[in-house]
Amino acid sequence: MSVAGSEINHAARALGRGELVAFATETVYGLGADARSDRAVARIFAAKARPRFNPLIVHVADLAAARQLGVFNDTALLLADALWPGALSLVVPKRQDAGLCALATAGLDTVALRVPAHETAQRLLNAAKMPVAAPSANPSGRLSPTSAAHVRDALADKVAVILDGGEAAIGVESTIIACESDPPRLLRAGGIARSDISAILGYQIGDGEADPAKPGAPGQLASHYAPRARLRLDALTAGAGEALLAFGRDAPAANGPARNLSPAGDLNEAAANLFRHLHDLDATGVSVIAVMPVPDSGLGEAINDRLRRAAAPREARGGSPKA
Ligand code: TXA
Ligand code: MG
Repeated sequence: MSVAGSEINHAARALGRGELVAFATETVYGLGADARSDRAVARIFAAKARPRFNPLIVHVADLAAARQLGVFNDTALLLADALWPGALSLVVPKRQDAGLCALATAGLDTVALRVPAHETAQRLLNAAKMPVAAPSANPSGRLSPTSAAHVRDALADKVAVILDGGEAAIGVESTIIACESDPPRLLRAGGIARSDISAILGYQIGDGEADPAKPGAPGQLASHYAPRARLRLDALTAGAGEALLAFGRDAPAANGPARNLSPAGDLNEAAANLFRHLHDLDATGVSVIAVMPVPDSGLGEAINDRLRRAAAPREARGGSPKA
């Protein structure tokens, strides 16, 4: 799906005025604002009802633009060369002269940078000629949007423009790697599998330590990506009154609403379908979604991470909703 050039220019001008623009990326839809403007970025937090301590990913068109904002060591350059544009965000030291507003990075001295591959995102970034801070375009704590319709349903009155680039092809958020320290650490499993990152590095990448004194990925709190319905994980069948989110060939027959993440058992297909199927099952009004087990290899790690967060007790969400 290709967006008209006039629509791209309209969106770029809206960003220039400090307004919000939702746009397609290959992972999930982003809710973008001018990353140089505290006023513009504050609108993101207001629209999402997101806590302000949570830093945002800053999107740029290419590595050259990224290097004006952050300091790239050899590891960061290796990963950027191999995987940008794509579903990868790199946390690097922020340059003194980056010109990013404090709110975009939540006052940290590091910045998360991403060069998305999606044609719509690329055209917007090239037209806007500014760094664009963009979290996923969903109310904080809710399911991430993988289509323009998801954004319209949740945030229509809060955004100036929604750039519809079709269904997100990957369907889970970018993989986040912290490169400001050596060795690099995986902060969030996402659209690029851990094994692919490790293959490029030449060694197995480990997780960022859960040291509360270190920022890590502060948005990674237990309950996140939650549908209204409760999730029952590791289910083999759906009980009475439950919806079924199946995976693979051996899905049981369902009496109620059901979706299969990938009848063929393909984890890339399952990631692409994850949020859409959860949105659809949630919209049926069931109170419980029974979820079949998904293998943890490849994109299965990101899928299981999102499922665990969606299933986490809502009490844990407390007074601090997540993004
Ligand atoms: O695929 C994606 O990454 C999407 C699309 C729109 O690009 N964006 C996205 O952004 O998922 P968001 O805001 O929902 O998630 C950003 C994550 C949060 O967990 C945040 O804490 C972490 O990135 N983060 C941002 N800046 C950071 C920093 N300087 N250090 C550590 N973590 C950071
Ligand atoms: Mg999000």
